[in-house]
Amino acid sequence: MKDKPLRQRPAPGSILPADADAIRLAGDILRAGGLAGLPTETVYGLAADATNAEAVARIYEAKGRPRFNPLISHVTDLAQALEHGVFDGNALALAEAFWPGPLTLVVPLRAGSAISDLARAGLDTVALRVPGRDTARAIIAAAGRPLAAPSANRSGRISPTTAGHVAEELGDKVDIIIDGGPADVGVESTVISCMDGRVTLLRPGGVSREAVERITGLRPDSPMDSPDAPRSPGMLASHYAPLAPLHMNATQPPREHAVLTLGPQKIVGEGHSGAVFNLSERGDLREAAARLFSALRELDATRPVAISVVPIPMQGLGEAINDRLARAAAPREILQSD
Ligand code: TXA
Ligand code: MG
Repeated sequence: MKDKPLRQRPAPGSILPADADAIRLAGDILRAGGLAGLPTETVYGLAADATNAEAVARIYEAKGRPRFNPLISHVTDLAQALEHGVFDGNALALAEAFWPGPLTLVVPLRAGSAISDLARAGLDTVALRVPGRDTARAIIAAAGRPLAAPSANRSGRISPTTAGHVAEELGDKVDIIIDGGPADVGVESTVISCMDGRVTLLRPGGVSREAVERITGLRPDSPMDSPDAPRSPGMLASHYAPLAPLHMNATQPPREHAVLTLGPQKIVGEGHSGAVFNLSERGDLREAAARLFSALRELDATRPVAISVVPIPMQGLGEAINDRLARAAAPREILQSD
């Protein structure tokens, strides 16, 4: 008897019907850092291993997203969600009522979770969802890790509800597309944050506000109702910003500044006393994006007077990196007086 032939990788952008072989193949591709079109009940997702920051950087690259928004990590069930997030009573009740289904819960990150900084945009919270489609959960199980997946469209375009839409949007930027038939909800999941006993509706979607209220007995806040709503562009509550002031496009950083560099050139002189972090020695913007949030935290932890950042080219992921840095550099006196 002959051995079964080795499964070949399909050409990028190929659409495969959701059978057991295709699901295993998608799992292999995702574990190797690739991207897969993921059929969920809401919309098709563009999935990558949430624990692999370079794979997550490829999502932003493929979508052409000019900024790093925090992404939803998709898991198989509540047990896997509990490995990554800390659930209070409201979060547990909502998960039990609506999972699998079109509800995403934002909760504090559990210590030891391997979900990458980039998938969380540097935040100490994590967005988790158990999708309502068997095929989606089978692909997550085949990958063996949580999958970061925003909608599988190019930035600024409408969300795809069929495998064909994903191919039209992303073509060969996605390694494989699994066809699970048309999405039945057609709008994204409802995003609810459960923190400190409060329930906040961050994005309306497939589960209604009233349904959330029925389960928790609390009327969900809107983000704008809360006293700590963002007031200054650098301090959007959903974005991490370092404590130290940040200076962009620095070509001759003062010797006491911490410095964020990129590429092979040495830019700090003899006797430089601040910490230095190179985002990518070879100047690779995907690697730089993958390391950006941990770099900011690491430099900030040295309590520098300021962080100087060398010019970052605007091409490809450079646009999102510059956007993030510009937000971190924006003035935030208002917050400090709160
Ligand atoms: O239906 C859906 O949710 C689709 C399918 C593919 O599952 N996915 C989706 O993912 O829409 P994404 O990553 O584009 O949704 C991210 C939403 C944004 O509104 C984002 O601001 C919010 O979730 N979000 C994610 N992490 C967050 C966090 N830590 N804190 C606050 N908001 C967060
Ligand atoms: Mg979207």
